[in-house]
Amino acid sequence: MPPLERHPLLRPLSREHHQGLLLCRRIRRELQARADHDLVLNECRAFFHADLLPHFAVEEEVVFPVLGRGNPLVQRAIAEHRRIARLFLRTVDPRTTLGLVEEELEAHIRFEERVLFPEVQRTATPEEMDRIDQVHGVMISACEPEAGAGTGPRAAHRA
Ligand SMILES: [Fe+2]
Ligand SMILES: [Fe+2]
Repeated sequence: MPPLERHPLLRPLSREHHQGLLLCRRIRRELQARADHDLVLNECRAFFHADLLPHFAVEEEVVFPVLGRGNPLVQRAIAEHRRIARLFLRTVDPRTTLGLVEEELEAHIRFEERVLFPEVQRTATPEEMDRIDQVHGVMISACEPEAGAGTGPRAAHRA
C-alpha cells in the first residue's frame, strides 16, 4: 500500500517532526566530530523545552485522544514521550545521553510518521482534525518567546 499523504491539518506537526530529525542528524554529526558534548546537550535541552515539549503536549491533548488512551499505539507513544523527556534531563555522561536521545527521538518520530499519524488520519472526524489544528495554533502562540522570533518549527507553523 502506498504511503498515505499527510492530512493538511497534521502537516504543522509533521514539520515539527522534520525539525526533530534535523536535531538527530546534528547530534550524529557532533558525536562523530567529538564536539563539546556538554555544550551540544545544553543546546538540545533548549530545543526540548522550546519545541519538543509543546509538541508532545499537543499530541497528548488532541492527537492521541482520537485513538483513545487504551490504544496500544498511543500507550507506546506516551511511554516514549516520558522516556525521551527523562533522557533530555539526564545530567550524567553527556556523550551517552546524546547517543540515546538521537536513537530514541528518531525512532519515536519515525513510528509516529509511519504508523501512528496514518492511523489518526484514517480515524479522525473532520471536527477532530479541526481541533488538532486549532489547539496546535494556540499552543504554539502561547509558547512563542516573542512575536516574529525564531526559525524552528514554530516559525514553520506560521509560514
Ligand atoms: Fe510524539
Ligand atoms: Fe510527534
